[in-house]
Amino acid sequence: MSNFLLEARGIDKSYGRIQVLKNVDISIAPGEAHVVIGPNGAGKTTLFKVLSGEVFPNNGSITFAGKDVTADPGWQRVRSGIGRTFQSARIFSELTPFENMVVAVEAHERVVKGKRPLFALRPTKAVRDTAAEILEDFALTKVAKAETKSLSHGDKKRLELAMAVAGRPQLLMLDEPTAGMAPGDRQKCVELIDRLLKKGGFSLLLTEHDMAVVFGLATRISVLNYGQVIASGTPEEIRSNARVREVYLGHDVSSAA
Ligand SMILES: Nc1ncnc2c1ncn2[C@@H]1O[C@H](COP(=O)(O)OP(=O)(O)O)[C@@H](O)[C@H]1O
Ligand SMILES: [Mg+2]
Repeated sequence: MSNFLLEARGIDKSYGRIQVLKNVDISIAPGEAHVVIGPNGAGKTTLFKVLSGEVFPNNGSITFAGKDVTADPGWQRVRSGIGRTFQSARIFSELTPFENMVVAVEAHERVVKGKRPLFALRPTKAVRDTAAEILEDFALTKVAKAETKSLSHGDKKRLELAMAVAGRPQLLMLDEPTAGMAPGDRQKCVELIDRLLKKGGFSLLLTEHDMAVVFGLATRISVLNYGQVIASGTPEEIRSNARVREVYLGHDVSSAA
């Protein structure tokens, strides 16, 4: 058995006649912070969808924690330990952040107990306490009882991240977690992800455009270009890769943090 938490091999994905992913290999080791970079339209979000079971590949295989999950639907992969957020936040905007968290914690506790993730109308004290604790961790206590739809974009994205973490995933996948954020919120979000990583206990797969964020968080980087992985390696290897510089990073990458 391999030492990787997740291993995808030979992934092809087409929409109609457009081939979006071409023979993609990606491996994620336990504890790794793996960042996928590449121009807009390179196939990053599609790769996330394939790995999380939102769509299925035309060819290739995906192994997670030693098990072939290629044919597993998304909900089953969540149960297996793959958690994700989306490029645009998916939260219940009519509920408060606290209620959103209760839903996420309740769902996880039921799954752990082998029950279907139905939501109790009266959450137990333990569920409410856990929900409040995670909100505190993510600096959301102040807005816990507000209407979620009235939150700032940054707060909404942090809430979504908090809800993903409530599922205690072994692999956390974040699709452009800082997209559209003001610089202050972006910094807060990066610090939060960094803190989560230092706490440990999970691997991270992330897409990101901001090179300071990429090189600040990544222990490994894969570069997608027109649906193909053109390079995969340590931040240093990627930084000095001539082909990557040519197609994506440009000439100023040496100044990236
Ligand atoms: N559901 C879809 N149907 C058809 N084409 C799609 C679909 N989703 C994505 N694409 C196309 O696949 C390519 C890659 O998209 P995407 O994975 O969103 O790239 P990225 O996240 O790297 O910007 C784009 O050309 C996009 O238009
Ligand atoms: Mg995308």
